[in-house]
Amino acid sequence: MSAVSFDQLDGQIWFNGEFVPWREAKVHVLTHGLHYASSVFEGERAYGGRIFKLREHTDRLIASGRVLGFEIPYTADEIDAACNELLERQGFTDAYVRPVAWRGSESMGVSAQNNRINLAIAIWQWPSYFDPEQRMRGIRLDMAEYRRPDPRTAPSKAKASGLYMICTISKHAAEAKGYADALMLDWRGRVAEATGANVFFVQDGVIHTPDPDCFLDGITRRTVIELARRRGIEVRVRAIQPEEMEGFTECFLCGTAAEVTPVSEIGPYRFQPGTITRQLVEDYASEVQPQRMAAE
Ligand SMILES: Cc1ncc(COP(=O)(O)O)c(C=O)c1O
Repeated sequence: MSAVSFDQLDGQIWFNGEFVPWREAKVHVLTHGLHYASSVFEGERAYGGRIFKLREHTDRLIASGRVLGFEIPYTADEIDAACNELLERQGFTDAYVRPVAWRGSESMGVSAQNNRINLAIAIWQWPSYFDPEQRMRGIRLDMAEYRRPDPRTAPSKAKASGLYMICTISKHAAEAKGYADALMLDWRGRVAEATGANVFFVQDGVIHTPDPDCFLDGITRRTVIELARRRGIEVRVRAIQPEEMEGFTECFLCGTAAEVTPVSEIGPYRFQPGTITRQLVEDYASEVQPQRMAAE
């Protein structure tokens, strides 16, 4: 990733229907989304010039806005077209795509019934973090102090900015101790997910992953489950207690940014990135390539 501050990159940003110079895509400090987290976003990746599962991400963006009580004033077709045109204008083939929608500055206060709903899309270069061998060593995770909230406490299914407050706190705490990330339990004390990715485990050739009943059902998660089943690997989606991690031999995270990332350690538990993890790292890498998508 670039060492340059993100507001100082070059290129264009799609901002409420216009392509504007990157450094001019600004909002006012009195923006509802900033003060009250009335904001939703997506994280997408383009591979070989094509955005992987773009429509699923766009649909989730629109659905997240509705959970927060607002309607993004563009259709899914318009949003997809904006993402694709911006990718072309930016001239990238492998990149990260970030649409974000938020309530504007028209009034300040908890109630913001008539505030404008804004939409912006930024695309920047973000290659995969690791080369395959380095990736296979696995990353180390701490246990987070915060838990994923009860769906009666927060709109846990939306990809809403407010839900990331506890993720940043948890990730910073883990990084301060030398870990790459943190595993969050849910409000009941079950295994939930990492701060920006879903989690999978392997035991005796079977994959286990938590039921996403109070956290994001990742698009990558669903893809990986499908890839595993295509290989004939059994996938059990179920409630997982933290003590069960003792018996799991492999562990990996998955998400648009993380792709499939092996894990070697979570708190006191140890894992050995193994054959199933390697298979899914490879299968996911080939699945996202445009020729694979075109063949379907
Ligand atoms: C909290 C959280 N969980 C899971 C995921 C994985 O979701 P996806 O695979 O749709 O990127 C993400 C990434 O966006 C995330 O931020």
